[in-house]
This record gives sequence, C-alpha cells and structure tokens, in this order.
Amino acid sequence: MKKKITDYDIKNKKVIIRCDLNVPIKDGIIQDDTRIRASLETINYCLDNGASVIILSHLGKVKSDEDKKKNSLYPVCVRLSELLGREVLFSHDTRSDNLTRMCNNLKIGDVLLIENTRFEDLNGNKESGCDLDLAKYWASLGDLFINDAYGTCHRAHASNVGISKYLESGLGFLVINEVSKLDNIINEDTHPYVVIMGGAKVVDKIKVIENLVSKCDKLLIGGGMAYTFLKALDYNVGNSLVDTESIDFCKRMLDSYQDKIVLPVDSVVSESLDSDKCLEKDINKFNDLDMGLDIGSKTIELFKDNLKDAKRVIMNGPMGVFENKLYENGTREILEYLAKNNIKTLIGGGDSVSSVNKFNLANSFYHVSTGGGATLEYLEGKILPGIGAISDE
Ligand code: 3PG
Repeated sequence: MKKKITDYDIKNKKVIIRCDLNVPIKDGIIQDDTRIRASLETINYCLDNGASVIILSHLGKVKSDEDKKKNSLYPVCVRLSELLGREVLFSHDTRSDNLTRMCNNLKIGDVLLIENTRFEDLNGNKESGCDLDLAKYWASLGDLFINDAYGTCHRAHASNVGISKYLESGLGFLVINEVSKLDNIINEDTHPYVVIMGGAKVVDKIKVIENLVSKCDKLLIGGGMAYTFLKALDYNVGNSLVDTESIDFCKRMLDSYQDKIVLPVDSVVSESLDSDKCLEKDINKFNDLDMGLDIGSKTIELFKDNLKDAKRVIMNGPMGVFENKLYENGTREILEYLAKNNIKTLIGGGDSVSSVNKFNLANSFYHVSTGGGATLEYLEGKILPGIGAISDE
C-alpha cells in the first residue's frame, strides 16, 4: 500500500503537489477546467491543515520555442486563484535562484504555481526524461511530495517519479479516488460485466482488450475500431478506417471470444467526413466508397439489449465521430441509456470523457476519469510509474 497525504503531519510544511493541470487552452482561454477543479481537494486540504503549497504541472508538449509561447500555465494560475478564492503566486521560471527564493519565502497558506515543467524539455528533455538533477532541485524546494496528477501517472517524469526519490511522498485525494473507483469496478464480483470499447484505432487498445476480454461477459465494439474487426471477418468496410496491422489480432480475438464480442450490424455512412449527406446501412451492404462514421440504429438497440441487465460497465472510447452532429447519435444514445438506467459505469481513457461533457452527462455516472492514457494503462493491468514511485506504508 502506498502512503497517502493523510498519513503525514503537514502543519508548517511546504508541500509540493504534482497536479495534472494539462487542460485545453485556446488563444489563452481555458476550454475545460475539469482537471483544475479536480485538483482543489488536495490543495485545500493542505491549506486547511496549516501548510503552504508549491504546485508542479506540465501543459501540452514542449518541443520548440513556439510550443513554449502557447503552453504557459499562467491562464491556469488565474483560474486556480479564482477557484481557490485566494491569490496564487506564479513563478515564470522552472529552475532559478528567484524560484528558490520565492519558495523559501512562502508562509503558511501561500500557494505558488511553477511554470510548465515541460519547459525543461527544451533543455535536453529533462522533465520527460526524468533528469535526476532537475528532480533533486525541485525536491529541495519543499518538505513533502504529494502526487495528485492522476492523468500523468503513466509518465515517468522528473516532476513525479524523479522527485519521489528525494522526498517522503504520498498520494493525493484525486489519485486515491481514481484508483479506488477503477479497482472497485474491475474487481467487483458482479455480473453481467460489460466493456464498451470505441475510438479510432485497435492498436492503441490491444492490451486493454487482452486484459479485459477474458474477465468481462460482453465486449461491445463501436467507433472506428469496429471496422478493423469487421474487416477481419471479411466484410467490405469500404473506405472506413482500418488498422491493417491489427487485423490478425482481431481475428484471434474473434476466434477465441466469439460469444463475448458484439460488433455493429449497421452504420451511419458517408463518402466523406466533410459531406452533409449520410445514411444508415447494414454492415453487409457497404459499397467501396462508404465510410462508417457512427453505429446505426439497429446496433444501438443491439448494444442496449446487451446492456440491459449489466451490473457494471467500463466504457472506453466513443461510438462514432461524436464531435460532428451527424455522427453523435450512437455515443449519445449509449451514454444516455447507461445514465437513465443507473447502470454502474466507469468512463475513461481518452475521448469518451469529452463526449460525456458534450452531452452534459458528467454527473450521471459512477465515475468519469480525469485520465486518458493513465486510465488506459491502468486498464491494461499495469502498475503506473507515478504511483509505483510513492513511499510504501
Ligand atoms: C493527459 O492529458 O493524458 C496527461 O496530461 C498526459 O499528457 P501527455 O500525454 O502529454 O503526457
């Protein structure tokens, strides 16, 4: 078992919290502040218990000076300050005497956000490559390290794994909650247990499918990845997305788990994503130009039928190109069915979370994970490095 924030006396301590404040920002405006809100519980706990707080986070990928300009955490600092209802100090430097001084001068109740940790990637990939000198420097700024960046737990960065080597460490409330919800739904012995997979490519989900297919009762496959499975069964899928390198994998899965895997029987097709013309077609009626962009109405009913007695569901990935109104129906109908019927559902691992937000269903499920890649890797059965690095009880 890993240590938790509540295992430490944090009074008068400088607590370094690694948050995942990697939020979408367009022209300086935050598009979705879910991850900032999700970080508040741990920050407020520190402030309520007499600590000062130093926050580390990455934002986007930083490979050039251009990326640096686009990926400042300053807009996040402003939003965090609004949400906390107090001033949040901001360090423009990720490593400097000035930052050291700012940290030395922190008083109980102060909050300091350090600029995007991946700015250090411009200087030899030091953050993403887990440079230990950098980790040691960040560790020197505080007394205790708390990892609350659930969405980054699958990365071994200097600011999560590296820093844990130099300070006593523990998990924050967000990581504890995410992991306990995942463990609960994965390990609970209730059936039927249904996994719904979607999204574009099979190759990104091979390990998740391998890990979950033997445990679940039904695996419903929608989204772009369904066409690779259909191709493996020799259907003409026209111009639909096919992940050629995964066809053999799909064949193996279909041979071994034919009673479990449920594929679409119809689709909403078009000749182009940009066209405003689309129609529903049975899977065996595709012509060479058809591109499947959503599950059709027969498939929606088929999937609902397979979900009707479900006791627990994991949904990973949308059923179609939900961002486009013409192809949102499959994803929306399945999400609404799960919500309306109070089926215990965990949603996570990529685009499915944005679809939940799009349809205003964020509060309708057992759990909506803040992690994309982290949740996928957890579902693969991996120990996430950001958690593995934390002090044992
Ligand atoms: C995420 O958005 O999944 C995390 O913040 C990790 O970001 P990354 O994929 O850029 O490492």
